[in-house]
Amino acid sequence: MPFIKSDRFLKTIRREPVDATPVWIMRQAGRYLPEYRATRAKAGSFLRLCKTPELACEVTLQPLQRYPLDASIIFSDILTIPDAMGLGLEVRESEGPVFTNPLTSALQIQRLEVPDPEKLAYVYSAINLVSKELAGNLPLIGFCGSPWTLAAYMLEGKSKQGFNKVFTLMQENPALLHSLLATLAQAVSAHLNAQIEAGVQAVMIFDTWGGLLTTPQYETFSLTYMQEVIAGLAKKNNQAIPTILFTKGGKHWLEQIATTGCDVIGLDWEVSLQEAKSRVGNQVALQGNMNPSFLLKSPDIIQTEAANILASFGKGSGHVFNLGHGITPDVPPEHVAVLIDAIHHESKKYHV
Ligand code: CP3
Repeated sequence: MPFIKSDRFLKTIRREPVDATPVWIMRQAGRYLPEYRATRAKAGSFLRLCKTPELACEVTLQPLQRYPLDASIIFSDILTIPDAMGLGLEVRESEGPVFTNPLTSALQIQRLEVPDPEKLAYVYSAINLVSKELAGNLPLIGFCGSPWTLAAYMLEGKSKQGFNKVFTLMQENPALLHSLLATLAQAVSAHLNAQIEAGVQAVMIFDTWGGLLTTPQYETFSLTYMQEVIAGLAKKNNQAIPTILFTKGGKHWLEQIATTGCDVIGLDWEVSLQEAKSRVGNQVALQGNMNPSFLLKSPDIIQTEAANILASFGKGSGHVFNLGHGITPDVPPEHVAVLIDAIHHESKKYHV
């Protein structure tokens, strides 16, 4: 199936009228799709897949060939930046991401540098290839991790509940943590700007571990640096590129997030769209927020939950439908078709 043409995503971000609510899915190119698993096997490893532009392009397009999605996201990973800084990323089947050379000394942190853009050129090449295939029919989203979330992985060396090491550094040497975050903010800005240059029409910042912080810590160690990244984004044809900011577990901080200069707040399922809308009003658009576990239930339960979420936002433009976190590998692909169809049909009544 050739992919559809849709301008609903960018219009919704600008809160212009649309005929139906746009939908895309975090991790839409992923292990729940058999064609993804086949291409990953052909690549040999997750990182090879990321680093081979033709294959990264192929998997970016796979979900669009199956479903009438309203946006695409470049296939890559937030941990490509630390990899380019010399930490040696490996994604193992059982453990998830692991760094072979994590940050263990102050000297190592002090020596870190913003990576040479050449080291991430494979991401920009993949964006060039996908943009050509999309030919302006669908928007392409670029992305990065927040400085805080990247620092948490770089110090821990792997995914771990609590991410104790970054909190130890925060207590023992906050100045050193700030210098790491400042370097990462520069690296993230440069990476997003190169993605914009290569052809993405929107960017998303994933602050997956922001929710581990207290409110003052969030403002000091995560929000400030994301604000700096947004302020440093390049314009294209004199137009700012829309930015989506997603802090997982960030329900307490929607008002602060709305003032960062982002255009869209990504929401997990811990806050309703209705509440979020009443708190941030018309300053920003909202994206989210179905719990991915609903995709494991029966089609009628999926349809009911989709309808509940649309009703929670209510009438008018300004809501991009998504999950509240990435789709899991055990989701039956048919259920995704049910969800997207439900969103497009059920949302028509909110856009008259
Ligand atoms: O959304 C998309 O389709 C684009 C691709 C994308 C991936 N990772 C591919 C991926 C995006 C946007 C990401 C972002 C990412 N990566 C985040 C932020 C979003 C979130 O989930 O909170 C984080 C924290 C990472 C780090 C990372 N990479 C983890 C924790 C894992 C393991 C996750 C898992 O499901 O096992 C990865 C590997 C990864 N990145 C996979 C995919 C499809 C699975 C790898 C595989 O094929 O084995």
